[in-house]
This record gives sequence, structure tokens and C-alpha cells, in this order.
Amino acid sequence: MHSRLLRRLAASILSLVFVLTSALFSVQSVAADSSKPSNSAQQEMTQLAGADYWRQVRDGEEGYTTSTSPEHGMLINVPGQTWFKLKEKWMSPLGALAIFGSLAMVTLVYFIVGPLKLSKPKTGRKIQRWSRIDRALHWSMAFTFLTLAFSGLSLVYGKHFLKPIVSTDIWGLIIMAAKQYHNYVGPVFFILLMTVLIKWWRKSVINKVDIQWFLKLGGMVGKHKGTHPSAGFSNGGEKMIFWLLIWFGAVAAFSGFVLDFPIFGQLRRDMELSNLIHMFSALILICGFIFHIYIGLFGMEAALDGMITGEVDETWAKEHHDLWYEQVKDLPENNKDKPDNR
Ligand code: HEM
Repeated sequence: MHSRLLRRLAASILSLVFVLTSALFSVQSVAADSSKPSNSAQQEMTQLAGADYWRQVRDGEEGYTTSTSPEHGMLINVPGQTWFKLKEKWMSPLGALAIFGSLAMVTLVYFIVGPLKLSKPKTGRKIQRWSRIDRALHWSMAFTFLTLAFSGLSLVYGKHFLKPIVSTDIWGLIIMAAKQYHNYVGPVFFILLMTVLIKWWRKSVINKVDIQWFLKLGGMVGKHKGTHPSAGFSNGGEKMIFWLLIWFGAVAAFSGFVLDFPIFGQLRRDMELSNLIHMFSALILICGFIFHIYIGLFGMEAALDGMITGEVDETWAKEHHDLWYEQVKDLPENNKDKPDNR
């Protein structure tokens, strides 16, 4: 009786163990089955993520999408790596070198050569040089140019000098603002540039007098320092900076348009080339205008007066623009203080 009871108990335990074990195995196999892709899904994944697939993509093999934009089938732009290297490894470090080099040069010129002083005292007689419209044009262009330069440089170099010192949120805000500003104000610069061209090109045509001015290094350095070579309204240096602004400004503006409006069927290659041309021309302009700003602010005594008040002192006019002075000295607007002109 007792042994029959024990046999029944053992049989029940065994059958319980069997039921539980088989249930466990079935759960595990379901789980294992669901984690494994089906045969066809596995095949599809291998095709998608397999080495052969990506090799074909890298080789430029096109896929299929419903997009109709140019190059819509190209998943990876392999030649874009060349653009990236040219931009990050060449253009951007060389640009920084050129900007710091220009800043170092004007600093050296200031300390070694020194500012160009007037050789005679000011007479106090004023000569009309820049009209109100000219000055408004100059300063609005200077403002647009400098802010575009600043926002553009932040877009290229900000990640090196600004990103490490501000929070991610602030960085995102700054760089977004810089990009939007650059995109919208770029066309304004182009309009101002064209206005400057139309308004000032006549006085910027290079002539023989300017060649002489260059040969004497503008009377600014070496044995020619203080010789004041002859010049008309603009001297050779000013004319050079004017044409540099027009040509490189036009190239920067045009390449900027290509980048600003990617709606004319531009391909990635066009955008990459435009980006490099845009950076190059902008860097040339920035370096050129470091010298212009140096001369205007520190390098030449009394030069800034004309661009602020519109008038320059007679001594400055005679010394720096003698031919122009001879042309305008007898005009009524320059003789307001003479008794017969009152
Ligand atoms: C703080 C910045 C600047 C200062 C202090 C400054 C100063 C001057 C001064 C004093 C003149 C008059 C020179 C003269 O009477 O012969 C001048 C002319 C001129 N500036 Fe500026 N400038 C600045 C920025 C700029 C910028 C950024 C641009 C262009 C993007 C520019 C373009 C010009 C042009 C085209 C002329 C006329 C040159 C000529 O053909 O005679 N300036 N500037």
C-alpha cells in the first residue's frame, strides 16, 4: 500500500517535470524563432547591408526612389570626400594662416613703418570729397561686408574656437543665426556692390599716373616714404582695392547665389565647387580689406575725416591727391569761406 503510494507520487512528479520542461523548451524555441529573421527577410537584409551592396553604392550604382530631383538615385556622394578634404585640410587652415598673416603684417607695418603723417600742418580749409550718398553707400557696404565676413568665418572656424567654450544650446543658436544672416544678407551685399561699381568705376580706371604711384610704392615705405607721388581722386592703391572688391566680390556673390538657391538643377559637384570658390574669393577679400581698414583707421593721418564728414583738409588733399586738388580747389563748394563766395 505504502510502496504503491510512493510509485504514484514519483510518477506524478516525473510527469510534472516533463510538462514543465517541455513547456519551457517550447517558450525558448518560440523566442529563438522570433529573434531570427525568416529566410526571405534574412536574404533581404543581407542584400541591403551586405558588403556587395555598399560596394555597389560606393561605385555610384544608382538605386530607385520616387524623388525626381537631380542625382536622386545616388545614396553616397563619394567625390564629396575630395571636396571635404580640400575644404577642411587645405582651404580652411591656409585661410586662417592668410588672415593671421595679414593681421601680423599690418601690425608690423604700424610698428616698423608707422602711420603716414601729414608733412605740413592742416590749413583748416575744407575740400568736399565724399557726398552724403557716397558715405552712406560706403558704410552700409562696410557693415554688410564685415558682418558677412564675421558670420562666414564663424561658420568655417567657429567649431574650433567657439564651440568648445559655449554650451551646445548656445552653440546651436549662434551657428543657426550666423547661417541665416549669411544667407539673407549675401544678396544685399551684391546689390551694394553693383551700386558701388556703377557709382565709382569712372574714378577707378587705372592710368599712367597710377603706374608711377606703384613704382614709388605709394610714398609709404623705403626711400620713397613721405614723397607723396601724384594721384587723382583715387591713387593706384585705392584703385587696386576697388577692382579687387568688384571682381572677387562678384565671384563671391555669384558662388553664394549658387549655394543660396539650389533650385536650378545644380548637382552636388556644382555646389562643392561653388563652396570652394566662395571661400577662396571671400578669404582674398578679407585679407585685402584688412589692409584697407588699417590704412583708413591707423595708417594715414586724416584719411578717415573724408569718409566721416565728407570733407578733407586742404593739406591732406594736396599731399595725397594733388591732381584732384588742382581740379577741385576753385569750385564754389570748396571756397565757401572766401568773401566773394559768401
Ligand atoms: C572699419 C572699416 C573701414 C574703414 C575705416 C574704411 C575707411 C575708408 C576711407 C577713409 C575711405 C576713403 C579714402 C579716401 O578718401 O581716399 C574708404 C574708401 C573706400 N572703402 Fe572703406 N573703410 C572700411 C571698410 C570698408 C569695407 C569693408 C569695404 C568694402 C567691402 C570698403 C570699401 C571702400 C571703397 C570701395 C572705397 C573707395 C576707394 C576708392 O575707390 O577711392 N571699406 N574707406
